[in-house]
Amino acid sequence: MKKIGFLCSGGDSPGMNCAIRAIVRTALYHNIKPVAIHQGYAGLLQGKFTPMDASSVGNIIQRGGTIIQTSRCPEFHEKKTRKKAAELLRKQKIEGLIVIGGDGSFNGAQLFSTENNFPVIGIPGTIDNDISSTEYTIGFDTAIQTAIEAVDRIRDTASSHARIFLVEVMGRNSSSIAMKVAVCTGAENVIVPKIKVDYQEIADGINRGISRGKTSSIIIVAEGEKEGRSYEIQKNLREKFQLDSRVCILGHVQRGGSPSALDRYVASHMGHIAVKALIEKKFNTVAVVKNGKVTLAPLSECLAKTDPFKEDHLLLAKILSI
Ligand code: F6P
Repeated sequence: MKKIGFLCSGGDSPGMNCAIRAIVRTALYHNIKPVAIHQGYAGLLQGKFTPMDASSVGNIIQRGGTIIQTSRCPEFHEKKTRKKAAELLRKQKIEGLIVIGGDGSFNGAQLFSTENNFPVIGIPGTIDNDISSTEYTIGFDTAIQTAIEAVDRIRDTASSHARIFLVEVMGRNSSSIAMKVAVCTGAENVIVPKIKVDYQEIADGINRGISRGKTSSIIIVAEGEKEGRSYEIQKNLREKFQLDSRVCILGHVQRGGSPSALDRYVASHMGHIAVKALIEKKFNTVAVVKNGKVTLAPLSECLAKTDPFKEDHLLLAKILSI
């Protein structure tokens, strides 16, 4: 390997810059030329390539987002587009590609690699922590910390006004963010995508809390298919149980900010191991966390979404917030 490319794809996540820095510096250490591909697969198709040196990744370890930008690229679902991408990379003499992104980005990478016989390595980067075969995805820890800080602030105003709040967190169909935030904020209830909303149980819990002197109630809502489902829950609580509540959708605030120590550490390891995987010809693999250690797993095992939802986590949140 003399020259490698790397890109970010899908939603950004805090820690992507740490992975980028690790890729560039590990490559240079091994006399490999690192090339940044801007704006994901879309940028690849537009030939947005920038050769990187050690100083081009200076002073980025603490920055949120991604300095090389990212995108969602529906065109990459087409075989002919993926073929064109391989041609463009070969024209640049790029011999291997590192993709930092989520399951959608990995599915594109897998097809691209097998159809065009092009070496690919994945790095899981998404705040959702929902990729099969890895215990961790870059950005999750920072995102939950951001959400926890926000919920703590909401608790201040909720208890000042004796209010019920529905706080909606990101994570699409994954309950990872919601479950962890609920436990860490002492939320009175948590609504996750896979379980039908039990309004009676929520209302009973709120009323029980009020009768024993609680001044506020926080319900964490996982966003599900589409953001904004909290408004429907609010409406039902009002119409069926005469419970008035406020909604706060945290949204993209959870995607920004300086990465936590965990995200910096894991991302740095993953960036390093991804370049080594290319050097050692361990192609079509992904840098994953298994049993707490950063290692490699086959790309084919990292294509599915997972939801680490467990009944006992839900129970923990409920028992601790009676
Ligand atoms: O994939 C990460 C994520 O932040 C999800 O939690 C969320 O549902 C989605 O991206 C939002 O996507 P967009 O940035 O395109 O609005």
